[in-house]
Amino acid sequence: MQDSIRAVSWTDAGIALLDQRQLPHRAEILVLNTVREVAEAIQRMVVRGAPAIGITAAYAVVLAARGRYAADASRWKHAVAADLALLAGARPTAVNLAWALQRMAALIAQLEGDPGPPLLAEARRIHAEDIAANHRMGELGAAVIESPCEVLTHCNAGALATGGFGTALGVIRSAFTAGKIRCVYADETRPWLQGARLTAWELLQDHIPVKLIADGAATYAMRQGKVRWVIVGADRIAANGDVANKIGTYGLAVSARYHGVGFMVVAPISTLDLGIAHGSHIPIEERGADELVCLGERRVAAAGAGAWNPVFDVTPAELIDVIVTERGVVRAPNREKLAALIATETPPNRA
Ligand code: MRU
Repeated sequence: MQDSIRAVSWTDAGIALLDQRQLPHRAEILVLNTVREVAEAIQRMVVRGAPAIGITAAYAVVLAARGRYAADASRWKHAVAADLALLAGARPTAVNLAWALQRMAALIAQLEGDPGPPLLAEARRIHAEDIAANHRMGELGAAVIESPCEVLTHCNAGALATGGFGTALGVIRSAFTAGKIRCVYADETRPWLQGARLTAWELLQDHIPVKLIADGAATYAMRQGKVRWVIVGADRIAANGDVANKIGTYGLAVSARYHGVGFMVVAPISTLDLGIAHGSHIPIEERGADELVCLGERRVAAAGAGAWNPVFDVTPAELIDVIVTERGVVRAPNREKLAALIATETPPNRA
């Protein structure tokens, strides 16, 4: 099983990001050295996917702290707060961004002396823990899939969206290796085309058979009996088990329930937000109309047409069969089961 794709990495020259706007045509690496550049890269989707933007922000805190400390060693902690706020505001829905920044801020509060080395070590830990969690979720999620089948995924919840290996695509990688998946249907994922551009590319790197479908074909594929499981990632999971993910996920969950297809959400514990009681309180990002009315540089919509572009939706917990985390699998998720999962120290399997 391959695990070589990295969306983000730390180098001596700065933060290296694989520019996801250029994929699959060009694998271009951008090296960034300032917090402002990194916040803009997150906002403009150079790097995207909940865990990947959290990891990127953690590395950006290292850049910020080094710069502020060099400028004024006595007041750097005060000054760096503005950098953390800038990063936190880059995208609102994925809680992993705020989670990673809070973890870096907690360490900053304890530091004395040069903050660079300890902050870099912490950012590297966040990155390594994410990759390890993805491998564990891959095993746990693959164990839920019983026999060789076809699955459907939406958006890109792969190595490109995480520290490496992926959440939903991590499960797909593991299950494919175990002979449990024959083929992956990938929704193209309008409007940004994460499925067509990123998921199809990523699966092909690992020689996993992928069939691209228009988003509107997913329900018909279920009706035709082509899909046994829908497997997706998450940007934020509320305390009651409601899941925010890429726009279109909610519709897939409704269709899956109607057709008796399993619905699996794969996300690390860092995506759980127990501070949000209910999915309706999750902030949903709305992006510019240009993403809808244009395909690349070319305008395709009728001139004068208005547009509404919410890029995430919320799937109610009652439509989710399984949430897979690195601490265990929660079937028919609800508030009590998620609270118990968070309270556990050692990974149980809640099958
Ligand atoms: O707008 P994006 O591309 O950042 O949206 C990404 C998703 O919705 C993913 O499914 C989610 O972040 C999980 S990634 C492991």
